[in-house]
Amino acid sequence: MSTDAIVLLKNDHKEIRKIFTDFERAGDKAYATKGKLVERMIELLTVHTYVENEVMYPRVRELLPELEDDVLESYEEHHVADVLVVELSAMQPEDERFTAKTTVLIENVRHHIEEEEQDWFPQVRAGLGRKVLQDMGADMLEAKKTAPKKPSQPSALKKTVDAVVS
Ligand SMILES: [Fe+2]
Ligand SMILES: [Fe+2]
Repeated sequence: MSTDAIVLLKNDHKEIRKIFTDFERAGDKAYATKGKLVERMIELLTVHTYVENEVMYPRVRELLPELEDDVLESYEEHHVADVLVVELSAMQPEDERFTAKTTVLIENVRHHIEEEEQDWFPQVRAGLGRKVLQDMGADMLEAKKTAPKKPSQPSALKKTVDAVVS
């Protein structure tokens, strides 16, 4: 099995996009369904963000300093998503702003995923090459084993907070 970091991240993106579409297709009053989908969305996003924050971004920043501005922008975009995720995780699907907040989260994350896939990943692949990406992916799979699944776990926000306050 390939452990190419970019292939793994794109697989995550695909799963996340699927949940987004499922949410958008759920009926207005399908509270139970929407609640379950958002729960799963939060878990996927928390794990994915953690792996990028802890493994990929710092390593790209170190190995490809010319991409540092993109990495910093990505940390900020993750931070915006984190804030929405934290707020959503405290809400009920029946709450007036639940669907609106989820929709804004989806819009933000879709934009971020698109930038990663269209602009950023190709530059990372060209700069790092196959072997480094394979090793990075193996480390990402390791990190996934202990990754937080909920934003309330302290490790979930660590790197973003570091990036914002340091
Ligand atoms: Fe990201
Ligand atoms: Fe991503």
